[in-house]
Amino acid sequence: MARIVIIGSGIAGLFAALRLADAGHDVTVITKQRPVDSSTNWAQGGIAAILDKTDGLGLNSHISDTLVSGDGMCDEKVVRSVIEESGARIHDLLNIGVRFETDADGEFHFVKEGGHSERRILHAKDATGKEIERALNDAASAHPNIILKPNTLAIDLIQTEHKNPSKGIAGVWCLNQENDTVFTEPADVLMLATGGVGQLWSQTTNPPVATGDGLAMAYRAGAAVKDMAFIQFHPTALAVNSDRPFLITEAMRGEGGVILDGEGLRNWQAEVKLAKEKGVEVLPGPFSFTLNHSPLGSMATRDIVARAIDQQLKETGDKHVHLITSHLNQEHLQDHFPNIQNRLKRHNLVLGRDPLPVSPAAHYIVGGLAVDDVGRPHCRDTGGVLPSLYAIGEVACTGMHGANRLASNSLLEAVVYAARAANHIIESKPQTKDCKLPDWRADGLENLTEHVSLSHDRESLCNTMSREVGIVRRFTRLHRASRRLELLSKEVDFIWRKALPSRQIVELRNLVLVGQLVTEDALNRTENRGLHYNKDLIEDEGL
Ligand code: FAD
Ligand code: SIN
Repeated sequence: MARIVIIGSGIAGLFAALRLADAGHDVTVITKQRPVDSSTNWAQGGIAAILDKTDGLGLNSHISDTLVSGDGMCDEKVVRSVIEESGARIHDLLNIGVRFETDADGEFHFVKEGGHSERRILHAKDATGKEIERALNDAASAHPNIILKPNTLAIDLIQTEHKNPSKGIAGVWCLNQENDTVFTEPADVLMLATGGVGQLWSQTTNPPVATGDGLAMAYRAGAAVKDMAFIQFHPTALAVNSDRPFLITEAMRGEGGVILDGEGLRNWQAEVKLAKEKGVEVLPGPFSFTLNHSPLGSMATRDIVARAIDQQLKETGDKHVHLITSHLNQEHLQDHFPNIQNRLKRHNLVLGRDPLPVSPAAHYIVGGLAVDDVGRPHCRDTGGVLPSLYAIGEVACTGMHGANRLASNSLLEAVVYAARAANHIIESKPQTKDCKLPDWRADGLENLTEHVSLSHDRESLCNTMSREVGIVRRFTRLHRASRRLELLSKEVDFIWRKALPSRQIVELRNLVLVGQLVTEDALNRTENRGLHYNKDLIEDEGL
C-alpha cells in the first residue's frame, strides 16, 4: 500500500487523513507542535455553508456574496462548486462528531459576518475551530490507520531526482524536536496542509505555527504560487499592550457591534446622554466613520473595513478604534461569546458594557500554492502538476477567494479540498516508489552556539513587513522592503548552510522566502483589487 504523509493537523490535514484512513490507507500526520496547535483551533466565527443542495436561492446568495467580496477576481466555477459541496462536507463533520450550535428547537443556529447578506454561518459559540479540532483529533487519534507525529517539523521536500520536478516528491526531511535529530520520512504521496503565514507581521491573529513552511518548501521544490499580495488583515483584533492581538470575531458585528473612532465614540456618548433625558434610544451605527467607506459600515467586507480603520488611525494618530456593544443585550452577548468574554476579563473589560480597543492584524493569506480542482500544485517550469504532491487548506490558492476572502469561507474551502484531494488519491491508487532517498546533508554542520542573531533577523523581518507591506502600500516602500528582504535572505542562507537545523532557522528561512514572494507580487500589480491597495496606483489614476 502506498505511504501517504500529511504535513499539518488543522482542519485540512486531519479531515483528509480520516477520509484516506477510512478507505484503508495508512496515513502518517506530521505536525510541528501538539496536534491541536493550528489556526483551525483558534477559529471563532464559524463555517459558512448551505446545507440543502436544492436551496437555489441560498446557494446563489452565498455565491454572490463570495464573488462581491472577491472583488471580481474569484474563479466563479470554483466558488459555485465549493458552495454546492458545502452541505455534504458539513454532514461529514457532523458524522465525525463536530457539534454545531442549535437553538431551542434543535435547528442549527446561524450567525452573520461582514459581507454576508444572510445568516448562514454554523458555529460553536465563539470557539468553532476548537470544537472542530477536538472532534477531528479525537477521531484521528482513535483511528488504527493514522499515525500522528507531534513535535515534528518538516524541513524540506525530497524529490526523486534532485531538482527535477517532473520526477515528483518522494518524501520529506523532518526535525524530531524531542531529540533534535533529522530523519527522512518517505512518502509515495505527500499532502501539504501547513496553513498560513501570519507570523510574517508583528501584529497577527495567527498562532505561532503559521510561518509559511509548506508554501516555502513547495516553492523551493518548483511549485508555482499565485496572488501572494492578497493578505487579509482582520479589522478587529484586541489592541491592549499586555496581550497578543486576540481576535474579536466579526460575528460580534453580525450581532450588532459597531466600530467607532474616538470622535465617534464621544459624539455618540453625548447623544446617548441627551436621548436618555428624552427617553429615546440612539444607536452607535450612524456615528461610525466606516460609513464613509461603504453603506454597509461596520459590516462591509474586511478589506474595506480594515482599510478604513488604517486610514483613521493614521489621520488621528490613535493606536486603536473602539468596538461598541453596550447597546446590545449583555446576557445574549456573554452567552454567545464566552471565549471572548473570558479573555476580556484579563483586562477588566466587559462585553455589552465597555468599548473594546481594537485594531487590524494580519489574519489570512488568500494567495498560496496554485492548485488544480483536486489540490495538486502546479509546477513553475512545466505548467503541469508536481507529481505526488497535494496542497490543501490555507497553504493553497484555489481561486475561491479572489482578491479578498469572504468571512468563514476558509474552513469551508479547506474541508472541501481536503475531501477532493483524498478522493483523488483513493481513486488514482498510487504505487509505492522504489527509490533510494538522499540523506540530509549533515556533514560539517554545527550547532548554533547562540540564536540571538536569528531572533534579531526575525524581528527585523516582521518590522519590515508591517511597515512596508501592510494594508496600504506604496512602490517606494515595497522596493525598500524588497531590498531589506534580499539582505535578510542572504544572511539567513549564510547561517543555514553552516548550521544544524533548529526550529528558529527553519521558520526564519521560510518566512523570509514567503515575505519575498508577497512583496514581489505586490510590486508587480498594476491595479488595486480587494486586499491589495497601493496608493501610488490611485494617484496615477488622478483620483
Ligand atoms: P491550520 O489549521 O493552520 O493547520 C496547519 C497545521 O500545519 C498545523 O498543525 C501546524 O502545526 C502544521 N505545520 C505548519 N508547518 C509545519 C511544518 N513545517 N512541519 C510540521 N507541521 C507544520 N476561517 C473561517 O472560515 N472561519 C473562522 O471563524 C475563522 N476564524 C479564524 C480565527 C483566527 C484567530 C484565525 C487565525 C483564523 C481564522 N480563520 C477562520 C481562518 C482559518 O482558521 C484557517 O484558514 C484554517 O483553519 C486553515 O486550516 P489549515 O488546515 O489549512 O491550517
Ligand atoms: C472571525 O470570526 O471574525 C474570523 C472569521 C474568518 O476569518 O473567516
